[in-house]
Amino acid sequence: MGNGVLSPQVETLDVFVELFSGIDRSETEPGEFYNRLCEALCRLTSMRRAVLMLYDDSLARVVAAGSHGIDPSLLVDVHGTLDETPVAQRALALDEVQELTPEQLAHEVPARYKGALEITTLTCTPLSAANRWFGVIFADRGGGRFKLTDDERHTMWTLGKLAALAASARIATRQQERARRLYERIELAREVHERVMHRLFGVSLVLSSEVELGPADRERCRSEMREALADLRTALERTLSPQPRRTGTTLREELGRLERGYADVPVEIEWKGDREVPPRLEPLSQAVLGESLRNAVRHATPTVIDIRVKLSAETFSLEVVNDGVMAPSSGTGMGLRLVSLEALQVGGVVEFGAADVGRWRTRLVVPL
Ligand SMILES: Nc1ncnc2c1ncn2[C@@H]1O[C@H](COP(=O)(O)OP(=O)(O)OP(=O)(O)O)[C@@H](O)[C@H]1O
Ligand SMILES: [Mg+2]
Repeated sequence: MGNGVLSPQVETLDVFVELFSGIDRSETEPGEFYNRLCEALCRLTSMRRAVLMLYDDSLARVVAAGSHGIDPSLLVDVHGTLDETPVAQRALALDEVQELTPEQLAHEVPARYKGALEITTLTCTPLSAANRWFGVIFADRGGGRFKLTDDERHTMWTLGKLAALAASARIATRQQERARRLYERIELAREVHERVMHRLFGVSLVLSSEVELGPADRERCRSEMREALADLRTALERTLSPQPRRTGTTLREELGRLERGYADVPVEIEWKGDREVPPRLEPLSQAVLGESLRNAVRHATPTVIDIRVKLSAETFSLEVVNDGVMAPSSGTGMGLRLVSLEALQVGGVVEFGAADVGRWRTRLVVPL
């Protein structure tokens, strides 16, 4: 265990400090952090290979978010749901590291993991914190049977807590962002209510009185209406003005991840032109991509999802077309409407609908 002269506890602590000091540096991407965590797990225990699986909200399944000692291309098929992975359920429910014998392995993890895992003893470490389940780490010695020591178990469990903490911090940031946007909407509603409504109400009272209006009354109505319109315009302009929203990644990076098989969605990606997406359009374009992918796996059974990015001096477009659409659209969701609204704010549009038979197209176009 370990290779220095330090006691295991001190070495574990050292690794934690090292991992944590990197986490708030912006150059440490989340994937890199999870790779380093897997690497630390192997360094501090007798494990040789480790894969960290995290729940991905937008795809509603766990996907490999980091690994060590294993060819990442083998991880393409390693994704799944908790239902099909009883060992992960047990690890999370008991909050304990689990060990599986080669005999148990067959029933406890989905068959498509077999490409990545040979018949061997396998361990499963829970990633949970504050009663939330974020995922698990699978680790083994790359073959053969073994039993974990108590020290190893403890180290793995602790690293699991660290990973859960990191995952929850990212989720918390996203939630804060959402809370801030909600607050802005409430502010808009309040402003419209307090200023515009009052003026209009005053005008409606005057207009509905039985008495004939004198020139002064008319003038007051006119000026109140004018003020109300001006207030409304100011409030709307402020809400529509671009609000910087950070995503911590770029469309190009996200497409790269998809292409490398990150989420097991069958994508074909084409990027026309060697320009980059303007930074102000990054959040929107990533939102459209996310919504389209989520929709494709939710509302269809795609065998392929074509993603095309076109960037010229005049326009930016992102098109996502999937096949495998069975039933005609009957949805009344919010996802596409929300991204459409966001697109309007930068003068763009989102078009969507059935393409040809069995295909669905979502397209974002923004003039530059
Ligand atoms: N890729 C797709 N394939 C087939 N149908 C789709 C696809 N994308 C959207 N649809 C249809 O368009 C409807 C509206 O999509 P939209 O994303 O706005 O809402 P939703 O996905 O149903 O709900 P949510 O508010 O969670 O996004 C869907 O309900 C579905 O019927
Ligand atoms: Mg949707």
